[in-house]
Amino acid sequence: MNILAVESSCDETAVAIVRSGREVLCDCIASQVELHRIYGGVVPEIASRKHIEAIYGLADQALLQAKLTRKDIDAVAVTYAPGLIGAVLVGVNFAKAAALALGKPLIPVHHIRGHIGANYIAYPDLEPPFLCLVVSGGHTMIAEVTDYTKMRILGTTLDDAAGECFDKVARVLDMPYPGGAALDKMAQLGDDRKYPLPRSKPGANPYDMSFSGLKTAALNLIHHAQQVGEELDIPGLCASFSAAVSDTLVPRVAQAIRETGLKKVAVAGGVAANSRIRRDILAAAEALDARVYMPPLSLCGDNAAMIGAQAYYEFLAGNTADMSLNAYATKSILGEKI
Ligand code: KG4
Ligand code: ZN
Repeated sequence: MNILAVESSCDETAVAIVRSGREVLCDCIASQVELHRIYGGVVPEIASRKHIEAIYGLADQALLQAKLTRKDIDAVAVTYAPGLIGAVLVGVNFAKAAALALGKPLIPVHHIRGHIGANYIAYPDLEPPFLCLVVSGGHTMIAEVTDYTKMRILGTTLDDAAGECFDKVARVLDMPYPGGAALDKMAQLGDDRKYPLPRSKPGANPYDMSFSGLKTAALNLIHHAQQVGEELDIPGLCASFSAAVSDTLVPRVAQAIRETGLKKVAVAGGVAANSRIRRDILAAAEALDARVYMPPLSLCGDNAAMIGAQAYYEFLAGNTADMSLNAYATKSILGEKI
């Protein structure tokens, strides 16, 4: 089954064609990152306009690259939530029009479920149930993926997402937007014990976590140094910060492995590209005799291939939509009826 998948929830316009959930025939992306960089973050109105400009050409390019024609497409999938509402709407309207014109089913996909689905492409043998650490720019959670379209959330961030904190700290260090990857690169040159930074303590739900205290502590440290004219060890700060984020996430994942008895743990979302988190989760899982699934860096950030992968399983579960499909800025991953 060839699924034409569309993703436009933030600052990447993406169209892919994925066969039966696992085989990527093409994965086209038009990134707007350079455009938003001068503003230090995504400007929603610009994002929507650029999606409109890019999406038609990108779909043609996808067909060309996959050496397919429109007749070979069996369904159209799209990120319908969550994201910047104007940006998501562009993809949803394009997908609705394409599905209507082709006379094929329309499959709405939750963006975060798509991030999890990136693992199905990277690991053709991966099947639920498994644990998943979701770490993106807007979401941070530990979920139990009980089936392809059924999940249980064990814990989430109670305030900021991990990616948001990486970006905020990188921004005050004058790193270009989005700063997570640049901060990660710098961290690899530094001493992770250089600056003591707080770790989120377990609360009523031990899987829940908080990042705002860590973010504030890092920002205060930087601002204080600037005010008193003290020179900071930037690689050391980046390494200390990355270690604190990882120390907040990874022990909770380890606890989830122990308590659920699940020996498979996947990582998903843009921050899954972080070298410290990748290293620590591998070590923690190995100690517990669990296997780790991590998408290659190219599938960690936003892309349409992951949407096409998850869409196949949504289709099998009967989760299709009609022309009344709407776009949503926020929506739970748990999959209430659309
Ligand atoms: O999943 P994603 O592409 O978009 C959302 O769905 O939010 O995640 C983007 C986030 C950004 O905050 C970006 O800075 C972060 O992922 N990111 C990283 C790394 N690469 C991307 N954060 C830390 N280390 C990285 N290597
Ligand atoms: Zn994303």
